[in-house]
Amino acid sequence: MKNGEKMENKEYLQIVENIFENKSFNQLKNERHHHNSNRFNHSVDVSYKTYKICKKLNLDYKSATRAALLHDFFFDEEFTTKKEMMLKHPKLAVQNASKITTLNKKEINIIESHMYPISGKIPRYKESVIVDLVDDYVSVKEKLGGDFRNLKIAVNFLFILFINVLIK
Ligand SMILES: [Fe+2]
Ligand SMILES: [Fe+2]
Repeated sequence: MKNGEKMENKEYLQIVENIFENKSFNQLKNERHHHNSNRFNHSVDVSYKTYKICKKLNLDYKSATRAALLHDFFFDEEFTTKKEMMLKHPKLAVQNASKITTLNKKEINIIESHMYPISGKIPRYKESVIVDLVDDYVSVKEKLGGDFRNLKIAVNFLFILFINVLIK
């Protein structure tokens, strides 16, 4: 996905506008994420893909897009070890997000469950499952840098399979 595509999508920008403008959220640009990215770009990628998929599936794409953008709203300095960060960051992301916007029940579950089954709560909504999967996809893509052609084909296949099950 090209960067320009999401920045030109007026509806997407309208949904995320007040989060994009928040000073604290913008500091995620200084947080390294998965070696090849920063946490801001990672979050925008997860949220735009979520927006496209949830809209196509007639789901609550507004809540899903907002929660996807906020799913990793935390800073490395808030944890002492990597393990602690991995296990506890979904809960902290909910706390940090609640300081800048009002979250609904679904948005809270989406953020809290995005690391399932490694950690966090159980995804209770279709939107939660989608954000969990999109996050995994974007994360693997970032970890592998540009070298992910075969992986992309495999993940796309799994996605199509998942969406088919979902819409049956
Ligand atoms: Fe995360
Ligand atoms: Fe993430």
